[in-house]
Amino acid sequence: MDAEIVELSADRTPAVVELCRRALDLPEDAAEAAEIVAALWTRAGADRPVVALGAYRGGELVGALICSVGTADQRLGHVDLVAVDPGARRRGVGRALLGHAERRLAALGAAEVLLAGNPPYYAWPGIDVRYTPAVCAALALGYRQDRTAWNMTADLSYEGSPALRSTEDAERRLAGQGVTVRRAEPADLPALTAFARSTFGGAWDAELLGSVGRDGAGCHLAERDGEVLGFAAYGSSRPSWFGPMGTAPAAEGSGIGGVLLRRCLRDQHAAGLAAAQIGWVGPVPFYSGSAGARIERVFFLYRRTIQP
Ligand SMILES: CC(C)(COP(=O)(O)OP(=O)(O)OC[C@H]1O[C@@H](n2cnc3c(N)ncnc32)[C@H](O)[C@@H]1OP(=O)(O)O)[C@@H](O)C(=O)NCCC(=O)NCCS
Repeated sequence: MDAEIVELSADRTPAVVELCRRALDLPEDAAEAAEIVAALWTRAGADRPVVALGAYRGGELVGALICSVGTADQRLGHVDLVAVDPGARRRGVGRALLGHAERRLAALGAAEVLLAGNPPYYAWPGIDVRYTPAVCAALALGYRQDRTAWNMTADLSYEGSPALRSTEDAERRLAGQGVTVRRAEPADLPALTAFARSTFGGAWDAELLGSVGRDGAGCHLAERDGEVLGFAAYGSSRPSWFGPMGTAPAAEGSGIGGVLLRRCLRDQHAAGLAAAQIGWVGPVPFYSGSAGARIERVFFLYRRTIQP
């Protein structure tokens, strides 16, 4: 019996979370299923078109897929999540969900579909290589791998960890140069978003809004004479995630980045987390040097051109 594919409304969120707990084979993802689904579906839906599909067999939800139109480029469709119940695999459910998603994304204007994260709301940069069935399915369904990405892990599990190294000396040095480092407050949001936009071009408004002064999240900033020189945030997508962060190019090399990073990691440690994930990392040597972070999760990113 073929699975029936239907579009899901947000009131099906609990069923999708339950399915993801069973179907996401990596325990760290299964444990965060609720946060992942909320970030990709409920929260992302406010900023971009998001479609959630369910696969039913005999009245049971056996598969789910969440896809979205590219926030930065609307000709790209993104598959943000696909999960099939372990008891229903290798029977074409994943194939049917992907096929429906491609048609829906094409109707929304996508010319290409990416099996890759759609910032600012993403659970993974691509397919974690340990989800090997998903890698096999992507290849079988005509996707080609175009990039590799990785997350780094900072160990927060013991007091002597390099991630929890004191920032006091560095902060004193910075103070000598007129630089103040402090926790960001909601009143700082306009200056922070303006800084992020003008310095890095990208829009980190959503992440900043989701971090500053929020439960399970936070943000620290560095300033001189009221001018923002850098910030680091955590928890906007999931409590265990660190980022984004940025230092003004003119202030690079002054130690601001390491201080801001470790202030956030210290908060996450205080909140009881044993590790922080630094998502979709660029500067590996910076995170390795400043917090002893190590490359851990590796992702393949896939894409496929679709017919309109
Ligand atoms: C990836 C996943 C969604 C595939 O779902 P599925 O319903 O089993 O996929 P299908 O039956 O439609 O498989 C389509 C094709 O993919 C390939 N494939 C799927 N699983 C495979 C496996 N374990 N080994 C080798 N090939 C595989 C096959 O070519 C298959 O076609 P075939 O069965 O006719 O040979 C499912 O394995 C899953 O939920 N995994 C855990 C969650 C996950 O990895 N999600 C992706 C990260 S977001």
